[in-house]
Amino acid sequence: MTEHHSDDLVGTISWRELAVEAAARLVACGVEAADLEARWMAEEASGIESRDWFLENAELARRRGVASFEEMLDRRLGGEPIQYVLGHWAFRRLDLTIDRRVLIPRPETELIVDLALRKIAARAIERPVVVDLGTGSGAIGLSIAAEHAKAEVIATDVSSGAIAVARANIAGLGRAGARVRIHEGSWFEAIPESHRGEIDVVVSNPPYIGEDEILPRSVIDWEPADALVAGPRGIECVEHLLVEARRWLAPGGAIILEMASDQTPAAAELARLAGYVEVVIEADLTRRPRFVSVSLP
Ligand SMILES: C[S@@+](CC[C@H](N)C(=O)[O-])C[C@H]1O[C@@H](n2cnc3c(N)ncnc32)[C@H](O)[C@@H]1O
Repeated sequence: MTEHHSDDLVGTISWRELAVEAAARLVACGVEAADLEARWMAEEASGIESRDWFLENAELARRRGVASFEEMLDRRLGGEPIQYVLGHWAFRRLDLTIDRRVLIPRPETELIVDLALRKIAARAIERPVVVDLGTGSGAIGLSIAAEHAKAEVIATDVSSGAIAVARANIAGLGRAGARVRIHEGSWFEAIPESHRGEIDVVVSNPPYIGEDEILPRSVIDWEPADALVAGPRGIECVEHLLVEARRWLAPGGAIILEMASDQTPAAAELARLAGYVEVVIEADLTRRPRFVSVSLP
């Protein structure tokens, strides 16, 4: 146990009291989940594990922890999303390091991993090659590596900042990390030529917002625009990936894309015209059509 000098203590204020005060300030700023967010920041600053919070939150706060807590609170009060303030966020089984270089992984994206795992299982291949294009934090690709015992995962991004974050997140995978390769570059240009015609499953949550679309302030102000905006119409990256994937997939290979719900009919139509089969539009947890899953004959 660490020895603490009495001057490390900030008076006699406990972490619980600090969290309560912070929650009141967050409420005044219009933060909806103020109690929860204040608690998360207090856990982060104090080192109290989430499962122990109610047992240990009467612990007195120490100077260094309080300085870090106040810095986090100031950032949150300044409008920065809680995920960036905490510096990590849960996605399926993973706790991903994140910062402003990457999109905050969204819960609805978790489902595309299930769709990809299903397609991988249908291939019945010993060591399937799976590609996650535009990996950002690594959320999709690293989850597949963590949840499939043998998949070889190639994760790419055009942003060097995102590549650095995804690489850092490989560490959280343990031994499964040895099956992940990360490459920087634009879409399929990042993939080693030797994989042409040999990829079993391509998965991507590409940018799909149109240039004129209105987004929430917290997204525009804090998240990377290049991760969100695809072009004037919004569907440009989805179209590019559907067309290009044909040259990279193995016979019978599949591509699964996340997109806006109103883009799914056009993407499905394009896929049929491009010669794909098993063209299926899949819904997210709120039952909105959000994914297009297709295979090569
Ligand atoms: C909507 S974000 C998705 C991030 C992550 N896959 C997720 O689901 O949280 C889109 C990602 O595509 C990347 N991207 C944008 N244009 C790209 C391109 N031309 N080639 C590769 N990646 C690109 C962005 O940098 C960003 O990380």
